[in-house]
Amino acid sequence: MRLPLLHQRCPELAGRLPFLRLGEAPTPVRALPGLGTRTELWLKDESGYGDGGWGGNKVRKLEWLLPEARRRGARTILTVGGLGTNWGLAAAWYAREQGLEVALGLIDHPVDEHVRAQLARLRASGATLHFLHTKTRLILAAPWLFARHTHGRTLPYYLPAGGSSPLGALGAVETALELGEQVRAGELPEPAWLVTPVGSGGTAAGLALGLRLAGLRTRVLGVVVNDTLRLDSATLLGLARRSAALLRSRGADLSGAEPAPGAIRTETAWLGEGYAHPTRAGDQALARASAQAGLALERTYTAKALAALLDLDAAGRLEGGPVVFLHTHGPR
Ligand SMILES: Cc1ncc(COP(=O)(O)O)c(C=O)c1O
Repeated sequence: MRLPLLHQRCPELAGRLPFLRLGEAPTPVRALPGLGTRTELWLKDESGYGDGGWGGNKVRKLEWLLPEARRRGARTILTVGGLGTNWGLAAAWYAREQGLEVALGLIDHPVDEHVRAQLARLRASGATLHFLHTKTRLILAAPWLFARHTHGRTLPYYLPAGGSSPLGALGAVETALELGEQVRAGELPEPAWLVTPVGSGGTAAGLALGLRLAGLRTRVLGVVVNDTLRLDSATLLGLARRSAALLRSRGADLSGAEPAPGAIRTETAWLGEGYAHPTRAGDQALARASAQAGLALERTYTAKALAALLDLDAAGRLEGGPVVFLHTHGPR
């Protein structure tokens, strides 16, 4: 099995930080001239990552989280999300392959065709679904959920929304290290910006840490698409630092390579009415991406992130050089 780049970068981690390969790396990069941006635009396409039932950036997180669940002897992963949670679906698919059960606490948001189809997949995934409707009810139900999914003396392994724990964020560290290799191999120029949707923050945080470890000067532009969690740049940098602390606690020598203030810029103006509420700008970006670049985006994350990229570019607010769009959505 190909070693993760993180283990190659920090050999001290081998044997101390288990990894389970779930997809084929590296994911491809390609130029996106068709979208007609002022700035040179590139794509890093995570949509095909993962060989189970669901792909994209979530699978990268599970590569670190599932072996940790097994190391702890857990039988069940307990996690939370919205009704159309991509994270919950990826967790359900890939955990089952490892003999682990998944229990999901779900909260409401607008339901469209996409969410309805996603709910059908969740129901078919074998995960136990708890419909708790609001964040308050979810929090109040937490003790009951833990008790309900404790087997004997074995507690469930709890993971926050989106799998965005310090360990889960390592998935995006790996993506950024890959991008670093691709820049070094001359497949694309060193980008000034790497643009990603921010739903629970692990991806943006992990990218910032990984870019630093890769020795790139690239900054993360996080387009916030969720208003139910605190996702400002200081919070995301805090998560990146907790991931770095985790690596150090497992013996990694990071030689001071921590994301600096400014490594993550967040933009909130493309959220619209809230999480999973489609926007006109998002829908226009989605149509443009499909017609001009052959990209299949969805409305909650990737369409809003691309809308922000296109608008900021048109306004001359993506200064400094090439921009990479991270395609994080991976349906099968
Ligand atoms: C398709 C897609 N893109 C991006 C994200 C955002 O990633 P993160 O939750 O790590 O911020 C998510 C999940 O939240 C997602 O499902």
